[in-house]
Amino acid sequence: MGKQSLNNPSIFTKMSQLAQSLGAINLAQGFPNMPIDPRLKDCIANAAQSEQHQYSPYQGLPELRYEIAALIERNGTVAVDPNEVLVTAGATQAIYTSVQALVSAGEEVILLDPCYDCYALPALMVGAKVRHVALNENYLPDWNKVEAVITERTRLIIINSPHNPSGRVWEEHEYKALASLVEKFPRLLLLSDEVYEYLAFDKPHFSVRNVPRLKERSVVVSSFGKSLQATGWKMGYLTAPKEILTSILYVHQFLIFSVNSFLQKGIATYLRAFNPDRVRADYAHRKALFTAQMKPSKFELLPCEGTYFQTVCYSNISHEKDLDFAERLAHEVGVAAIPVSAFNEDERDLKHLRLCFAKTEETLTEAAQRLCSL
Ligand SMILES: Cc1ncc(COP(=O)(O)O)c(C=O)c1O
Repeated sequence: MGKQSLNNPSIFTKMSQLAQSLGAINLAQGFPNMPIDPRLKDCIANAAQSEQHQYSPYQGLPELRYEIAALIERNGTVAVDPNEVLVTAGATQAIYTSVQALVSAGEEVILLDPCYDCYALPALMVGAKVRHVALNENYLPDWNKVEAVITERTRLIIINSPHNPSGRVWEEHEYKALASLVEKFPRLLLLSDEVYEYLAFDKPHFSVRNVPRLKERSVVVSSFGKSLQATGWKMGYLTAPKEILTSILYVHQFLIFSVNSFLQKGIATYLRAFNPDRVRADYAHRKALFTAQMKPSKFELLPCEGTYFQTVCYSNISHEKDLDFAERLAHEVGVAAIPVSAFNEDERDLKHLRLCFAKTEETLTEAAQRLCSL
């Protein structure tokens, strides 16, 4: 098994525990500490008062799948049929279930490092091999390197934009290059993790669904944890063409059968009036505030085009390993961050830390002041 799959507990748990034990500000784990939209709370409260408390249809409540399809369409990506939507217990379950359903023992899955930590395990659990290909030093894909590892055994490539941890957002040409690359391999599928789809700031989010040659072989994963700022509910969904979805549904029904019924109902009501532009504007404001406050610091701020993560380089401050530096930062400065090497199978260390700015203005101001003291 690879390094990432053996990390127990994960770097997120480790740094959050450290933050808690030291009373440090936790910019490590990606969760908002702001209140959620009160209208969303009302929708959930009303749903809790309804009689929607038994198993929902295993693919998800039809009214929620309809609202998800409508949301996708009005936000500029190619429409999907509500029958191509599966409601899941967060993006994590969507990813786990998809990989388990689509990949078999002896096949290969390509991951682009640094990448989110839940991608490798489901592949390793079915006896597949995971091939890690490094993104370039700007955290963008090097398609020649990807092509070099594709074989007849490659079943799945997992991609992620807006990208955690770097905050980079891929443009259309990246998808076009990918489309040309995968054309020669008819069995090769894509899993596109688009959980930060509504958090692209400097340029629009481009979904893999917008390239028809890719849409027909892609599973696209979304998270209500990110879009509704409610990470603790573990609610999300995926979309996939019918044939691919049929395989995923087979695993889904035995893994979980169906997800929380009244949350589905409440979210369906809320989505009718949900405007992702407001979420994006809110995070753009927090990002602007945090970057302005970090300007006097010795940290170099790397481009953050999307997500709620700001990656910083600390090579002007120290040459310590990023994990050591992150631990020292938590102890001495009182701010917890994620060392980016934790997202790399080979632990490549560019002296980069990931800071989460999905925090109240007070938290961000205090954290920036502490980081500027270095
Ligand atoms: C890139 C990425 N994918 C998936 C997830 C998991 O999302 P969920 O909480 O909906 O399972 C996260 C959560 O941080 C993430 O950053």
